Amino acid sequence: MSLTTSNRQVPARGDHRAADAVRTILSAGLRKHPNVGEVRPGRKAGKEDIGGGDEQRAHAASGRPLCGGAQVARPCRQFGSVRDLSDRDGRRSACGTGLMEPLSQPAPFVQPHHLVVLGHPDPGSFTATVAQAYCDAVRACGHECVLRDLYALNFDPLLAADERPAGGSFRPSPDIAEDLELLREADVITLVYPIWFGMPPAIIKGYIDRVLGAGFSAAAIKQGAVNPLLAGKRLMLFTSSASTRPWLEEQGQWLALRQAFETYLENIFSLRDCGHTHFDSIVPGVKPHFVEECLAVVGERARAVSAEVLSEKRAQQSRTIRRSGAE
Ligand SMILES: Cc1cc2nc3c(=O)[nH]c(=O)nc-3n(C[C@H](O)[C@H](O)[C@H](O)COP(=O)(O)O)c2cc1C
Repeated sequence: MSLTTSNRQVPARGDHRAADAVRTILSAGLRKHPNVGEVRPGRKAGKEDIGGGDEQRAHAASGRPLCGGAQVARPCRQFGSVRDLSDRDGRRSACGTGLMEPLSQPAPFVQPHHLVVLGHPDPGSFTATVAQAYCDAVRACGHECVLRDLYALNFDPLLAADERPAGGSFRPSPDIAEDLELLREADVITLVYPIWFGMPPAIIKGYIDRVLGAGFSAAAIKQGAVNPLLAGKRLMLFTSSASTRPWLEEQGQWLALRQAFETYLENIFSLRDCGHTHFDSIVPGVKPHFVEECLAVVGERARAVSAEVLSEKRAQQSRTIRRSGAE
């Protein structure tokens, strides 16, 4: 008896003659694949790689039949080449625990999502350029990125009476429904704004009041409740000021800003601190090469967080696959 995969006959449990033939090929140190010709252990060939040279040799040595075909390491856009414990028909290899049982496929890998929130009225400003540079850099990494230009969207920063998250009467307003959905999907939330009189522009504060804090009451904050919308997401900040950072520090302003708009928000919303990059001395007539240097820093930070969040998501996905394989 044999099982048919998409393009070849593979030995099933009990078909020892065929399995012996496979073992013979493996033990001869030459592994032939009908599509890719000769494949050496651990090397990619063409579009496919027969994975696990060592594993397969161990199988051959163990005398157990290699049922369900060789494990196929499928080249995957997101993972590079990742070992998949199923054959091309989605059946488990006998190398696993569930001989030949069809497996439910793990959910496809979803690229990390970045939500960039821009609070500046001028689309040609330094701040807007920073936001765009961040988006470009993470998209170049293959990540999803949405830019919410609050001014361009005519975002209303005023929290209405029935939006107050108290007493169970909270009702999110329809005009923030899309923002809430984007927040739900986001892995990284990146706020980009200038410092205005020691604080973020009012539109950013309004976004915090109405979107980040939606439905999260003062009582929940006091009880240290986990924010279901935000918990575990990364918060990243890019800010700028006309004055120098030492001057802001001297005024106590730097510490105040960080305490109020970083540490406190991260604590109450269970967000993860992903860094605050501040560009100082951003004044009219700032030299283009200085702006270039700033944008290079933005790109670096964007790529660093992208790598971090991607590896975390991959690890999560691997755990899910292992768990589903163990069931
Ligand atoms: C209303 C307003 C208030 C500002 N307050 C401050 C301030 O308190 N401290 C400071 O260093 N710069 C302050 N600035 C300067 C801005 O921070 C600076 O222009 C901005 O960071 C430069 O980026 P941009 O070109 O994207 O606006 C203020 C600017 C405006 C328009």
